[in-house]
Amino acid sequence: MTLVLGIETSCDETAAAVVEDGRIVRSSLIASQHDLHEEFGGVVPEIASRAHAERITPILRGALKEAGVERADLDAIAVGNRPGLIGSLLVGLSAAKALAWALGRPLIGVDHVQAHLYAPLLEDAQGFAGLTDAEAFPALGLVVSGGHSSIYALRSPMDVERLGRTIDDAMGEAFDKAAAILGLGFPGGPALDRLAQTGDAGAHDFPVSRIGPGSLDFSFSGLKTAVLYAARGKPRREGGSTVFERDASELSEKERADLAASFQRAAVDAAVLKLGRAMERVEGARSLLVGGGVSANSALRAALEGFAKEKGVRLGLAPMRYCLDNAAMIAGLGSRLLAEGRVDDLSLRAAPTGG
Ligand code: KG4
Ligand code: ZN
Repeated sequence: MTLVLGIETSCDETAAAVVEDGRIVRSSLIASQHDLHEEFGGVVPEIASRAHAERITPILRGALKEAGVERADLDAIAVGNRPGLIGSLLVGLSAAKALAWALGRPLIGVDHVQAHLYAPLLEDAQGFAGLTDAEAFPALGLVVSGGHSSIYALRSPMDVERLGRTIDDAMGEAFDKAAAILGLGFPGGPALDRLAQTGDAGAHDFPVSRIGPGSLDFSFSGLKTAVLYAARGKPRREGGSTVFERDASELSEKERADLAASFQRAAVDAAVLKLGRAMERVEGARSLLVGGGVSANSALRAALEGFAKEKGVRLGLAPMRYCLDNAAMIAGLGSRLLAEGRVDDLSLRAAPTGG
């Protein structure tokens, strides 16, 4: 049996997990910082790093305790070391290095975005059993989160090629911005999802960005502007500042729900359109692996189910606890890297870019 401890601190979740044999989640603890960043309408890097530093030790202890594992039982320490906020990444990486050094175990740097694609292959005691390698690969991959909107071709969990990405906002960022326009707080994706359920998705004909005819890239900035203008009217310059015809608070509940539903439809249509194009490029694809916070979206989940059915591929959609940022996905992919001997030493660095 191989036991790997995973550590995740790339953004605003401090997480640790123990995974057995690359698949079975023995524990997965997540301390979210959403409450600390809410009043600023976005993640404040300095606050995030400080909160990680305060929380990492109790979270690590808790993950080991819940898994019923002693530190000495661990075979390796896996850590998300890219991409992310540099100050946040460094907290997790330092903890991982300290443990790896103290225990004399291998250290494994894991790409956070590739780890999101591994989440659908996990299994846990709460009844989730993801796809096996034989069911999953070759695979088409989609990661849609607050920081990423990318499409991948995967020949194995470690052999990942990016086919397309956003040229401006990430899909989750677009949800958060649209939610902010509608006055729904931060992060607004989940609130927009709920509001959209009572709206008419056909009320506004918002643009679905295609970019070029064969492009697999995303663009969400045009959609965001379209929502802004539909919600607040055309802007004009007045005394050096931009003034809108109305405030979003003047909209009725029905109007706001229609805007939310129409925005969501355009965003989901864009994802399905690009996945359709990408499918042609992944020969013999057996599955569609999906990760990242936006995969919680009810309309996207329904659309992906339809897409997978139509294309005759299995849909690898993890439960929410593994779609959002977590350390089980880091430990899982870390175990697979360990099995291939792809380990790092204590000179491993944190990198803000990757994926
Ligand atoms: O994966 P994640 O927790 O963090 C990043 O790695 O970025 O994703 C967070 C993003 C946020 O933008 C949040 O608004 C979005 O996922 N999100 C949703 C939903 N739940 C979370 N977006 C749309 N609908 C949802 N139900
Ligand atoms: Zn993430």
